[in-house]
Amino acid sequence: MPAKVVVIGSLNMDLVTRAPRLPQGGETLIGHSFTKVCGGKGANQAVAAARLGAQVSMVGCVGRDAYGEELRAALLAEQVDCQAVSTVDDSSGVALIVVDDNSQNAIVIVAGANGALTPAVVGCFDSVLQAADVIICQLEVPDATVGHALKRSRELGKIVILNPAPASRPLPANWYENIDYLIPNESEASTLSGLPVDSRQTAQAAASRLIELGAGKVIITLGAQGSLLADGQRIEHFPAPTVKAVDTTAAGDTFVGGFAAALAGGKGEAEAIRFGQVAAALSVTRAGAQPSIPTLSEVQAFKTP
Ligand code: RIB
Repeated sequence: MPAKVVVIGSLNMDLVTRAPRLPQGGETLIGHSFTKVCGGKGANQAVAAARLGAQVSMVGCVGRDAYGEELRAALLAEQVDCQAVSTVDDSSGVALIVVDDNSQNAIVIVAGANGALTPAVVGCFDSVLQAADVIICQLEVPDATVGHALKRSRELGKIVILNPAPASRPLPANWYENIDYLIPNESEASTLSGLPVDSRQTAQAAASRLIELGAGKVIITLGAQGSLLADGQRIEHFPAPTVKAVDTTAAGDTFVGGFAAALAGGKGEAEAIRFGQVAAALSVTRAGAQPSIPTLSEVQAFKTP
């Protein structure tokens, strides 16, 4: 039986332009290209976990529109169970993304239907949560829903992962006791801890602070610098494979989905982190969110260049 991962979160249609650089306020730039790609942190993590070996269910909302149909179809094409993806009377979530020639991106999201994922809606799909080994949440759905999902997942005795993305403020204090693995990037770690994070040393201090706040374990992703695992006893650094980046969109989601699939499948956390890092490294060599996420056989075949 494949391990079961449940993702509670967002689905967005990504409207992606490539441009020489990111525009400044008030500036109009001539872009290179435009594409429409299925994304959303929740859906990306669901696709990653499915491509990387887990049986996956998604809990979320799409709008009653063409994007909603495409977002659902994209998950079904990956064998992600969508019985808990509700269609609501709103527009589907969208993300406006600019990627520059250095593969950096800037993103504005409009939640739309993702805002309809209330605690009551999640409560309707409790049997889906009960069947999980690992449950993943992010922050593109209402805070009340995330708080409820973390608490219920803890009550059910599941392995609980929170990817606190995007983070605009510290997390509610009572969330921490329900999190087994908190997985922020550098800027999210800084927002949550209130400490600057711009190096491995400062990331270690932030990780220690997040453990003090109550997270079980903390994994800070550091892009090309790899990641840090802190568990309250020790902090371990995992260097990232070196690759040529084309587009970093969904690299964090690929790491989270890959880590969850590996952990649910019985790998130890160090092995699961290395597995997630290889998957994320492969994803940055390709454009777009869901199209960039590698398969299990691609990760297994990966050799450091
Ligand atoms: O993490 C990448 C994702 O963030 C994109 O797919 C976009 O939808 C935004 O939610």
